[in-house]
Amino acid sequence: MKIAVSGKGGVGKTTIVALLGYLYKEEGKKVILVDADTNGNLASALGYRSAQITPVSEMKELIEERVGSGGIFKLNCRVDDIPEEYSLNLEGMRLLVIGGVKRGGSGCACPQNTFVRNLIASLMLEKDEVVILDMEAGIEHLGRATAKAVEVMLVVTEPGMRSINTALEIERLAKDIGIEMVFVVGNKIRSQKEISFIEDNISLSILGFISYNEGLIEIDMKGEAVFSNKKAAEEVYKIKKRLEIKDFV
Ligand SMILES: Nc1ncnc2c1ncn2[C@@H]1O[C@H](COP(=O)(O)OP(=O)(O)OP(=O)(O)O)[C@@H](O)[C@H]1O
Ligand SMILES: [Mg+2]
Repeated sequence: MKIAVSGKGGVGKTTIVALLGYLYKEEGKKVILVDADTNGNLASALGYRSAQITPVSEMKELIEERVGSGGIFKLNCRVDDIPEEYSLNLEGMRLLVIGGVKRGGSGCACPQNTFVRNLIASLMLEKDEVVILDMEAGIEHLGRATAKAVEVMLVVTEPGMRSINTALEIERLAKDIGIEMVFVVGNKIRSQKEISFIEDNISLSILGFISYNEGLIEIDMKGEAVFSNKKAAEEVYKIKKRLEIKDFV
């Protein structure tokens, strides 16, 4: 199962990635969580408190060694050892912090970008693993080839026009690069009215809703793992079940 999670800043992507990963791990699946956000903090959502982790996209020497420098790039560089060598084992899941790629001009073939695309494409080939990508709203890490391997994209939105508009934009980008299954998850829901608001303003299939949850905010303040919150875990479990009913796994 290969899942990408996207949405406007702050809507709850990282929280949902960590909860989904935990639920898959609990049922015995091998899980690789991929933090592909420029300012990623997935490790913290998993309760990891140590000093900052260097994202692999910032490992200049490694990238130079693999992709080359001085204008001659290997477009298909070796990356198959990266998940094993550079991931952390947290709570029985593997976490790979890729980081973001600073945008260059259009069609930028800079080494960093090449490296990250190769790496994500290679993760998609891990047959038995559940791979979940925590992405920012821009989804340019996913080239067409990689996008084909993403079975489902979850777009997270809050009840509000701003995050809904971002969700619609992401859906358009996702469809453009060939991701067919795009679903919405409504997060931070306080009332039926807010559910209706999302339903009325978005035509995409909605997989489910997650309640506004003070406990998650406290957990974030303490730097603890999000899956210690039972209610959130139960709500995300229902969302995961709906993914399975749709026959993806
Ligand atoms: N259901 C919820 N109820 C209340 N707070 C929530 C809920 N889900 C997430 N949050 C809180 O919202 C904040 C942002 O969540 P999170 O980091 O998961 O979002 P994000 O989309 O990954 O953000 P970013 O774009 O910065 O990466 C956190 O403080 C988190 O605890
Ligand atoms: Mg995040």
